[in-house]
Amino acid sequence: MITRDGAYVSLWQDMPVYETQRKASSTLIYDAVIVGGGITGISTGLLLQKSGLNCLLLEAHNIGFGTTGGTTAHINTLLDTPYTTISKNFGEDNARLVVQATREAVNLIKRNIQDYRIDCEFEEASAFLFSQDDKQSKELDDIAEASEKASLKLEPIFSIPVPIPFEKAIRVEEQAKFHPMKYVYALAKQFEALGGTIVQYCRVTHANEDDDMIQIEAESASFKALKLIYATHIPPTINLLHLRCSPWRSYAMAIKLKSGNYPDGLIYDLYDPYHYYRTQVVDGEKYLIAGGEDHKTGHEPNTEKCFRQLESHVRRYFDVSEISYQWSSQYFESTDGLPYIGHLPGHSHNVYVATGFGGNGMTYSSVAAIVLNELVTKNESIYGDLFSPTRIKPIAGFADFIEHNTDVAKQFIGKWFTTGELESMADLAQGEGKVVKFNGEVIAVSKDSDGSLHAVSPACTHMKCSVAWNLAEQTWDCPCHGARYSPDGKVFTGPATRDLEPVELRTLSEKEK
Ligand code: FES
Repeated sequence: MITRDGAYVSLWQDMPVYETQRKASSTLIYDAVIVGGGITGISTGLLLQKSGLNCLLLEAHNIGFGTTGGTTAHINTLLDTPYTTISKNFGEDNARLVVQATREAVNLIKRNIQDYRIDCEFEEASAFLFSQDDKQSKELDDIAEASEKASLKLEPIFSIPVPIPFEKAIRVEEQAKFHPMKYVYALAKQFEALGGTIVQYCRVTHANEDDDMIQIEAESASFKALKLIYATHIPPTINLLHLRCSPWRSYAMAIKLKSGNYPDGLIYDLYDPYHYYRTQVVDGEKYLIAGGEDHKTGHEPNTEKCFRQLESHVRRYFDVSEISYQWSSQYFESTDGLPYIGHLPGHSHNVYVATGFGGNGMTYSSVAAIVLNELVTKNESIYGDLFSPTRIKPIAGFADFIEHNTDVAKQFIGKWFTTGELESMADLAQGEGKVVKFNGEVIAVSKDSDGSLHAVSPACTHMKCSVAWNLAEQTWDCPCHGARYSPDGKVFTGPATRDLEPVELRTLSEKEK
């Protein structure tokens, strides 16, 4: 089974780990190295390989370990950032360009499915957006007006496919849904068939950039490339993007209904955070997928509560027979509402990034593939300026800020702590974790389901923010830029590239006590 960055299992994980076809070379100079084996990296790799480049894709875990394995897989041009906000921040012409780019992305997915005969339970669907009070109705009117001006096809409707009371609703055509991992595996296979190389369990730690070549250092190998693309949500360096993207957690459930009345379409309410519903058939079984209860990573002290709130919301409207799966995943919001796709600020012209997709990762991953393919092969794209990460204004004093924050603490080398005392002081139930002060030191301590205690430094190895325990997924999550770690401190997701510093625990013998 595919592994992911948390304790819960998503609807998409019941697949064997992807089997790679060829070996990477550390002497060859690849045209492009892509870091990240999610839908963005693989979609981009495939387009570049089709354009005639020789690409290497490096993934720190297995393919789909991150958000691609935990998405709810809505393929839409009706976006989380409403067109009211996009028009306000970027102008009406650019809002039209966003519709054009996302439409092109949906078409790319459809074309891939057709060309490669991918069986990924893809279905075209309408999106429904509905209001439940006067304030939301006004917001819905504004969204509808701005969306129409941006040339999104929509219409007002008077019934919605879910048994939820509403005031007003609109329907948007030409959206879609699919099984994301089946799609990604098929693209990966195609990428390799065209000569691309995939290496799993290969964490990239840093890259040395020369004028005409980049040396990419991974934990157990190094590679050379002319171009480097970070498709890791947020790049593993310390960069302005870390100040312009915030990490969020989102919760989802796959539910069996007693009645068998599964709704058609992709359905969204207008709460903040909003709830969403859709039906997916997986291997012949129908599920209602419901999601929501989003919060900033590391800011919710009881993440289990988010699942319970989502469950009670769903039970209010649906005759739940069984919650078959529940899982959470992470996404990154940009400050102005559009993703950053293009040259990575502060690096050479040969280093690229794609991040800040918000809750529209399935669509923006294909937008990123299109834009990056054009930038890498032609050095221009009609969407280049719109999504350019360099639209970020430099921040005064950023260099000093980096200097100050990269010095990772090594406070526990040579020190050890007694298990018994720490355990009684932290007072943890199985599955709990806490950051505690013990014998003058701050320690992140957790107890696993077997009752074993784990202790690590809470200082995130990216820029030293203090991590917070994620009760639901049994991980240490960094609230600053979203790095996530296992209970014993192993890096699950970047931007950190190093594990949390371990804290040595010893059980005293009777004689020592
Ligand atoms: Fe940047 Fe933790 S992810 S400080």
